Amino acid sequence: MVKVVVTDTAGEERTIEAEEGISLMESIRENDFDDLPALCGGCCSCCTCHVYVETSWAEKMPTMEDDESYLLEDSPHFKGGESRLSCQIEINDTMDGLKVTIAPED
Ligand code: FES
Repeated sequence: MVKVVVTDTAGEERTIEAEEGISLMESIRENDFDDLPALCGGCCSCCTCHVYVETSWAEKMPTMEDDESYLLEDSPHFKGGESRLSCQIEINDTMDGLKVTIAPED
């Protein structure tokens, strides 16, 4: 398990324990955040699992594939260098202390 600091859309910060090998989206949902609907269930087709990853963590994130990039760039809340789909981030042991903020709903 690694610790991930999650800030919700109301600005409330909470540290969760995330299991390695599952997605950041699943970890956030398992911890009862209700502002990350993740409507497609992780198929990279809805953009409702959009988070901002602190820039200091960018190099530890998996490479962004084209389908993730297209979805994010269409979002009115896109922030270059920070926006990621949390369903496309698989938790691993290099991510202990990761800080993310749930993006506003589009
Ligand atoms: S859950 Fe739909 S794109 Fe991530």
